[in-house]
Amino acid sequence: KWADPRKLVTDAQAGGYAVGAFNMHSDETAQALVRAAEQAESPVFLQVGRAIVPHMGLRKAYELTLRAAEESDAEVVIHLDHGPWEEVFEAIKLGFTSIMYDGAHLPLDENIRTTKHVVEVAHSFGIPVEAELGTIPDAGEAVDWASYYTKVDEAERFVAETGVDWLAVSAGIVHGVVPDLPPQPLDLERIEQIRRATGLPLVLHGMSGVADDDVTGAIKAGVHKFNADTDLRHAFRAGLESVWAQGDRQLEEALAAGRERMIEATVAKLQQYGCAGKASA
Ligand code: G3H
Ligand code: 13P
Ligand code: ZN
Ligand code: NA
Repeated sequence: KWADPRKLVTDAQAGGYAVGAFNMHSDETAQALVRAAEQAESPVFLQVGRAIVPHMGLRKAYELTLRAAEESDAEVVIHLDHGPWEEVFEAIKLGFTSIMYDGAHLPLDENIRTTKHVVEVAHSFGIPVEAELGTIPDAGEAVDWASYYTKVDEAERFVAETGVDWLAVSAGIVHGVVPDLPPQPLDLERIEQIRRATGLPLVLHGMSGVADDDVTGAIKAGVHKFNADTDLRHAFRAGLESVWAQGDRQLEEALAAGRERMIEATVAKLQQYGCAGKASA
């Protein structure tokens, strides 16, 4: 059940699909992700991300995720999402088997220097590292895309100097979804160029609100790990609201309905990414 993260992504690259990577926010949401992976017979990255850490702390979030994984047969990786400096090392000590270090906000040289150090430490423990170059804006931010996009020559230098395993790129995606706005078109040509220049499997974040065509296009261009969160949170919320709409009910009933809706939405993503049916067991 504990998957080798490098192999999951390499297999996805060889098989022409992408592995789903989704964020847990609570016990029920962690359960939803592993149950969806089980139902879809898919591998999955269970991500501990930016929202959960201030809420319950890294250790507790890790332990909840670990518990959910242990209770299932799903093939999983427990991954730190958007880890800042220090948290990355804390995560390695706790037992995460895959990490993202996010130095994208730093000047290029500083991003390279810190990422290289994280890679050295993580690799000494056999842990792969995802890093980010270019900035992935939040939905609704006023964005000057030219300055946000990952630049091909910088990506080539970044990968050569840091030794990262996977690179998260900015190519038109945003974190979150803007209701009533059409999905952001992806710069697939740029993604393809970055893949050629770096030779690495690429990662796209912000996969909520991305059109179907862009999902398949991104896989063809070289993306083999997709991060999604907002669409799944919205599904959980719809489940809660469906129960609350019936009046004052037990909280557990609402949480269970949220979990059910999130399972359905996660299975749909795993199918869309092509990783459903790809669990090795
Ligand atoms: O800067 C280096 C890290 O703090 C090393 O952390 O002892 O958890 O591997 P570690
Ligand atoms: P979305 O919320 O847009 O799906 O982005 C999730 C993400 O990238 C987590 O790292
Ligand atoms: Zn992200
Ligand atoms: Na998004």
